[in-house]
Amino acid sequence: MATSFEEYCRDVFDPKKVFSKPEPLKGYRFLSMTQYILGPSAANYLAELGAEVIKIELPRRGEPMRHTTPFNEPLLYPLSKWLPDKGTGLGFFGANHNEYFLSVDFHKPEGQEIVKMLAAKSDGCVENYRAGTFDRWGIGYRQLSQINPRIIYQWLGGFGGWGPGRKRASYDILGQAQGGCFSVTGWPVKIPGYEGKFPIGLPSKHTIWIMDYWGGMMGAFQILAALYWRDNVSGVGDFFEYSQVQGAQRHLSDAIALYGRHGLVQQRWGNWDALLSVHGIIKCGKSSYPGSQFPAEAEEGFCLVSAHTDADYAKLMKAVGRDDLAKKYPTHDDRVKAENQPAIYEALEAWAKDKTKEQVEEFMHKNGINAQRVMNSKEVSTSEHFLQRGNVHWIDDPTFGDVFSQGPVFMASETPPRHKWAFKPVGADNEYVLSKLCGLSKAKIKELESQDVI
Ligand SMILES: CC(C)(COP(=O)(O)OP(=O)(O)OC[C@H]1O[C@@H](n2cnc3c(N)ncnc32)[C@H](O)[C@@H]1OP(=O)(O)O)[C@@H](O)C(=O)NCCC(=O)NCCS
Repeated sequence: MATSFEEYCRDVFDPKKVFSKPEPLKGYRFLSMTQYILGPSAANYLAELGAEVIKIELPRRGEPMRHTTPFNEPLLYPLSKWLPDKGTGLGFFGANHNEYFLSVDFHKPEGQEIVKMLAAKSDGCVENYRAGTFDRWGIGYRQLSQINPRIIYQWLGGFGGWGPGRKRASYDILGQAQGGCFSVTGWPVKIPGYEGKFPIGLPSKHTIWIMDYWGGMMGAFQILAALYWRDNVSGVGDFFEYSQVQGAQRHLSDAIALYGRHGLVQQRWGNWDALLSVHGIIKCGKSSYPGSQFPAEAEEGFCLVSAHTDADYAKLMKAVGRDDLAKKYPTHDDRVKAENQPAIYEALEAWAKDKTKEQVEEFMHKNGINAQRVMNSKEVSTSEHFLQRGNVHWIDDPTFGDVFSQGPVFMASETPPRHKWAFKPVGADNEYVLSKLCGLSKAKIKELESQDVI
């Protein structure tokens, strides 16, 4: 083989070649009757792989995510032709790529008819309203599967369709709270012997909507399995219930097993790790951008340091001039103990007091220690590594012009995911979808519009 592995990867995953390659889900059609991030992201992942996804929203205003976040500038990202003074907020950006935008009022009988017509010609739909809302409207799985037995219906809800919690509303943050995630994220109430030296006491939420995007990925994953099963085994569709709360607790790592085996309730351990040591984030006392107007930049820096094997730990402690601690805690069992970790991190932070995160990272790399400075969104957006690979990129968006955003999450040599456009205004494809798939005339479409059905 003439080329190195790096050259081979650079060539087969080259972002410039993505648009000349086939799309694996081309020919499949899904309806996305979704809101916020959980449901939309599931449909978005299918659209990135070439499925035709038709997003159906409330006429004129669209779904709530368009209004939930700020920076909704009407000139840059218009909301809809009916509300020219309103824009779409930046929170809508991550989860609606490559889709067609239809507006339908699900309350109205003509609107429900449109959904049924589309469902008859679709492979599936994704929906994340409250338990039973679509069933009540007569366009849930029970009704749509009568029309199209091959339909794959992915419902992503809060607590599921049955059980005591089923009527409750849910959001990412609620899923994480009930699923137990916040109880193990944040700072411990007490670190005996180190009172006052480390922040204490607060659980911490994730700022990113990690359980929404995670749930969306699970939704898309289930749909792919159902397509295989339908098209190769059974010939029939499937009804999926993904519960956001259940998804959150599914990812509690070892905390459930720990409780089951030892009756122990896992506690928060801040930026350190309850299972591995050293494997945590240390504070570096010098800011990399002392004059910055952004508080996140002006603050001290932070750097992840990972040296949990005995050999790496010994190397780390020698490099920072604390051979005594290498000798004191020679085995992982010694240094992972809750009572021993603080002394190690205290020593590392004392060493990093007069250094920036870049200096700490460079020092660690020179000494063969795994380390990564904690990067902010500007550093991610301008990172040569991410830019070269298309992990962040400019889309030449047909509606909005240049749009900067994250790229798809994985690469593929033959059938890569791609971003053709970020999203469109509410109802932008009404005519296209309703004439192509429902055979409606221009006059009929105008009439439905004047009656607020679409
Ligand atoms: C997000 C959530 C809390 C919103 O709750 P909600 O608005 O009270 O209830 P529903 O989701 O069932 O939505 C019903 C309402 O949507 C509105 N609506 C939205 N799109 C509509 C459309 N195209 N046509 C008609 N009505 C529409 C109506 O006002 C309707 O109210 P109604 O019951 O009076 O008819 C709830 O859907 C939920 O818990 N979803 C599951 C978890 C989830 O996905 N959360 C969001 C991601 S974090």
